[in-house]
Amino acid sequence: MKIFVETERLILREILPTDLEGMFELDSNPVVHKYLGNKPIKSREESEKYIQSIREQYIDRGIGRWAAIEKSSGDFIGWSGLKFNTGEKDALNGKQDFYDIGYRFIPRYWGKGYATESALVALNYGFKVKAYETITGIALIGNIGSNKVLQKIGLNHIEDFNYEDTKASWYELNIKDYAKIMS
Ligand SMILES: CC(C)(COP(=O)(O)OP(=O)(O)OC[C@H]1O[C@@H](n2cnc3c(N)ncnc32)[C@H](O)[C@@H]1OP(=O)(O)O)[C@@H](O)C(=O)NCCC(=O)NCCS
Repeated sequence: MKIFVETERLILREILPTDLEGMFELDSNPVVHKYLGNKPIKSREESEKYIQSIREQYIDRGIGRWAAIEKSSGDFIGWSGLKFNTGEKDALNGKQDFYDIGYRFIPRYWGKGYATESALVALNYGFKVKAYETITGIALIGNIGSNKVLQKIGLNHIEDFNYEDTKASWYELNIKDYAKIMS
């Protein structure tokens, strides 16, 4: 099992087929999906496919979301990390081929700073280990928590755009500005 990074309180490791129950708990919860298009899943088969697609991304795209494990309990709490959005299917705001930072946790683990903690190490990983030129963040405007996380880790608000029938914010940080922040 590959561990990508550890934070003070979390292990961020490859997502595994054995994460099925946690992934189903996460994605079948309507509260979690409030700002994700309101389409919680209904079956474990959907989670199985999702896990499989992330595992394929590790190989095909060189990166994919990471499972987040709370060190103190050993619990699977959700996922965090980078995704390479590529091709027309992944296009957003008229853009293709970008590295997107994201996170999704089971609600009982919200409000503990885990999104900020995990997103920050994912950002460091993207720039320091992978040397990506730009990292992007996207959140619906109403998703205050997610917007706050993106701002807290240092991404710059670039613009708002129409996403389906609502509005979303687009954030970016490039490696030069990241280096300036770090120096
Ligand atoms: C968005 C999400 C990942 C935030 O996770 P979290 O671990 O609770 O976030 P953090 O604890 O790191 O919070 C970061 C900041 O946002 C604030 N925040 C978090 N949720 C908030 C909310 N619903 N309303 C207002 N502020 C909120 C926190 O208070 C904190 O601010 P502070 O440092 O000034 O106190 C979590 O709510 C979630 O999984 N939501 C469902 C999936 C989702 O929407 N993902 C993002 C898609 S773009």
